Amino acid sequence: MTITQIQAKKGVEKITAITAYDALFGKIFDNEVDFILVGDSLSHSFGGNSDTLSIGIDEMIYHTKAVCKGVKESLVVGDMSFGSYCNESEALKNAIRFYKETNAGAIKLEGGLNRVGIVKSIINEGVAVMGHIGLMPQFARSEGGYKIKGKSEESANRLKEEALALQEAGVFAIVLEGVKHEVATEITQMLSIPTIGIGSGVHCDGQILVWSDAFGFFTEFKPKFVRRYLEGEALLKGAIREYVKDVKNQNFPNLDESY
Ligand code: KIV
Repeated sequence: MTITQIQAKKGVEKITAITAYDALFGKIFDNEVDFILVGDSLSHSFGGNSDTLSIGIDEMIYHTKAVCKGVKESLVVGDMSFGSYCNESEALKNAIRFYKETNAGAIKLEGGLNRVGIVKSIINEGVAVMGHIGLMPQFARSEGGYKIKGKSEESANRLKEEALALQEAGVFAIVLEGVKHEVATEITQMLSIPTIGIGSGVHCDGQILVWSDAFGFFTEFKPKFVRRYLEGEALLKGAIREYVKDVKNQNFPNLDESY
C-alpha cells in the first residue's frame, strides 16, 4: 500500500488503520488494514507509563524496524516521539533516521500551525509526513489532561486553520483525534487529503484504533471512542491458567511434546 493509493481512497472507500509495535502483530494485521501506525501510544499501552511522553526516538525506531519486518503489504507509519522534533534540525535528523533505519513509508507528528515549518523541511528532504491535530497526547500533561477539541467556535476555527496549513505544507493525511464529530466532518469535506479519525466520528475518511484497546488487552480504562472487538485479556488469562494447571498436574508436556 502506497501513500498515493491511500490518498486515492478519499471519497471512494474508507481507509483502515491500526497500531502495532512489533513484528508479530505487524504480521497479523498486515494486508488487513491500509496502514499500520507504530504509535507512541506504545509508551502508555505497553510501556506501563501514564502518558506518551517518556518514550524516546531510539525506542520508536527499534519498534518501527520490528513492525516493518512483519509487514509486507500495508503502509507502515512511524511516530515521532515527544521532544524528537522540537526544532528543525532535530526534526530533520530524526525523521531521516526513520527512512534510513526502517522501512517505514512515512512518519507522523503532532501539531498544527506551530509545526508547519518543520513539516515542510521534512517533506522537502523526501520523507512523507502524516499530521496529527485535535487531542494530541504529547500535549496532555501541559494541557492538564486529554481534552476534546472543537467544542467552541474558536477551537473549531483553529482546527480548520491548522488542517489547511498542514495540507498546504504537504502532509499526505491528517489524524484527527478527539475532535467533535461535526467539526471533523467539516474538516474532512474541506481538505483534499484524507483525514483519519480516532474518536472523531464516522465521517472522517478513515479510522484508526490502538490495537490493545480494540482487542481488549488494555483494560485499565476504556475511552468512549473505543469499540472492543475481542476480550483479549480474558482470553489470555484463561489460556495462561490452563497452561499453569497443566504444568502443575503434570499434564504438560506429554510424550509427543517431549524429546
Ligand atoms: O500513538 C498513537 O497510537 C497514535 C494514534 C492513537 C493515532 O497517535
